[in-house]
Amino acid sequence: MGRVEGKVAFVTGAARGQGRSHAVRLAEEGADIIAVDICHDIESMGYRLARREDLDETANLVEKTGRRIIAEQADVREAAQLRSVLAAGVAELGRLDIVVAQAGIAGMSGNPPWQAWSDVIDTNLIGTINAIQAALPYLDEGASIIATGSTAALMDVAKTDQPGADPGGIAYIVAKRGLSQYVHELATHIAARKIRANVVHPTNCNTDMLQSEPMYRAFRPDLEHPTRADAEPVFPVQQAMPIPFIEPVDISNAIVFLASEEARYITGMQLRVDGGGYLKWYDYHI
Ligand SMILES: NC(=O)c1ccc[n+]([C@@H]2O[C@H](COP(=O)([O-])OP(=O)(O)OC[C@H]3O[C@@H](n4cnc5c(N)ncnc54)[C@H](O)[C@@H]3O)[C@@H](O)[C@H]2O)c1
Repeated sequence: MGRVEGKVAFVTGAARGQGRSHAVRLAEEGADIIAVDICHDIESMGYRLARREDLDETANLVEKTGRRIIAEQADVREAAQLRSVLAAGVAELGRLDIVVAQAGIAGMSGNPPWQAWSDVIDTNLIGTINAIQAALPYLDEGASIIATGSTAALMDVAKTDQPGADPGGIAYIVAKRGLSQYVHELATHIAARKIRANVVHPTNCNTDMLQSEPMYRAFRPDLEHPTRADAEPVFPVQQAMPIPFIEPVDISNAIVFLASEEARYITGMQLRVDGGGYLKWYDYHI
């Protein structure tokens, strides 16, 4: 018997990276999946987002576990799209128990800068709230909501002249802090219904978001066109443990735990999976 056997999970940003890993791990533990992803680029971001083929690959991987999946293109900035996918998904799969609101973009070096600001706030903050609000009417006792923050939300990069302290980069921090506060308040309000809400904060995670030009530039501002080989030696600066990054499955394991009955009394938690990054950079307290 899987740890989330017979449950249905809604995962945003599921075409690749952490979202794909969460969908597959939850399916391995017995959940059916409703997956969405934008499946095209957001122009102000200087790196490529997922494509429909990526979402199809997530669907293949989930189906290989023997579970069912509804995988649709949808933009978390558009609440109506999420409501429509959820209505169809719940009609097909019969229920909804788990929400993993984790679609996100990294705005550092985004251009034009103030467009990047808006796109990051709209996706990472409003998009997270849209996904959770769209799901709430379907959730009942025992349900679990998990949003993805970032250890970046716990640091004061915004106050520095560090790389990434541009409008898109600051929006990233503002959005992640905002969603953390939103989940905190939400958890308080839904506790009486025995529905839980928590935030998971990853450090550097080995996905296409981290392995992108804007991120390389944030780690190596001294170079005009830094490569992965230039940036990787600097990645460990984010963690107290001597590691460059964690893998998506390290976050998925926390997601499965928080989604399962094992965490039935854990709510309002800000759970860091960060190789001790917070210990090193703890100038912001949530
Ligand atoms: N990779 C890291 O180092 C890191 C660290 C901390 C937090 N995070 C957070 O983890 C989450 C997952 O990121 P990832 O590392 O897997 O990166 P990723 O870029 O590989 O995956 C993000 C997914 O979200 C999708 N997406 C983006 N905007 C969307 C929108 N408006 N609507 C629907 N889907 C959209 C993308 O197409 C992509 O498939 C994000 O919220 C990110 O901020 C990442």
